[in-house]
Amino acid sequence: MKSKFIIEKIQQSKLPQADFSHLVFGKMFSDHMLVADLIDGQWETPKIMPYQALPYEPSAKVFHYAQAIFEGMKAYKDKDGNIFLFRPEDNFERMNNSAMRLGMPPIPKEYFIDGIKELVKLDQDWIPTGDGESLYIRPVYIATENAVAASPSDSYRFMVMCSPAGKYYSGDVKVKIEDRYSRACDGGVGYAKAAGNYAAQFYPTQLAKKEGFQQIIWTDAREHKYLEEAGTMNVFFRIGDKLLTAPTVPESTRILPGVTRKSIIQLAKDHGIDVEVRPVEVAEVIEAAKNGNLKEIFGVGTAATVLPLIGMKYKDYYTDLPQPDDSYADKFKKALMDIQYNRVEDPYGWRVAID
Ligand SMILES: Cc1ncc(COP(=O)(O)O)c(C=O)c1O
Repeated sequence: MKSKFIIEKIQQSKLPQADFSHLVFGKMFSDHMLVADLIDGQWETPKIMPYQALPYEPSAKVFHYAQAIFEGMKAYKDKDGNIFLFRPEDNFERMNNSAMRLGMPPIPKEYFIDGIKELVKLDQDWIPTGDGESLYIRPVYIATENAVAASPSDSYRFMVMCSPAGKYYSGDVKVKIEDRYSRACDGGVGYAKAAGNYAAQFYPTQLAKKEGFQQIIWTDAREHKYLEEAGTMNVFFRIGDKLLTAPTVPESTRILPGVTRKSIIQLAKDHGIDVEVRPVEVAEVIEAAKNGNLKEIFGVGTAATVLPLIGMKYKDYYTDLPQPDDSYADKFKKALMDIQYNRVEDPYGWRVAID
């Protein structure tokens, strides 16, 4: 099949210099990247070309008004070397929902889906195969018009880069339940994967880190009464044998609708576990912690997969979190990874082969 992309291959691969034995999340990039430019309303033919620096002027709008969105996905290799994506259409849809909220034109589906497939295929030797390792895929979409008027750009660039990935968190994660700062508000951009959402998290997270907490669980901006999400993860609370997690769009515009979250809800239901998707009060979780009914809390997301949290602080109250023998987090992590790495049948059609 003739490619719909212009392909310019790297002269000499950087692979021989790449050290896969100490993978630090998101620091090393594969040989190629995908680039598609939208100039004055017209898409130019997308290119796959050597990973390289960008040629932008200081006036490019992305630097001033944060018209910038991104996605996060992974490519997995099975024991026979077959390569798979996980629910890529969901990332595509979320990217265009984010684009719409930031006043950016939609990205054509074939650039996103076929572009990623073609890029990953070309750089497949960069997919690490150790336990839990994968190739992290980072699509990003930015405003490139050189003009400092505060209005939407007339030009954009969609890009995809890839990074061999191991664990996202290198140590245990304790969380602080935030009762002062906010990440998102009703009607805002919390549900979009807007770059600015992450910048807004950094300062409060730095403060939490100084207190010994690696992440924040955000609460609603209006009352700081309901638990939302943490860093780059949605959060699940197990009280007794029931799982609770906060609602996303359309009920809430404050929380990113995670692909992992959606998958875990499905897996939980199919494991016969009761899942309540509803606003989760800080007070009920603290009460459950105090009376012994809080069994576990875990974060879920593409980068971290499923991460049991080990401690939680709210105002002056701190508790270590239980790590039960029948952990739901462990059960779902295994079920999810078995599908992602092609170790079991995929009854849901989530796994998408790249061939
Ligand atoms: C703010 C936020 N919440 C949740 C998630 C989890 O989403 P997903 O499971 O699609 O990776 C992410 C990561 O993408 C995120 O950045």
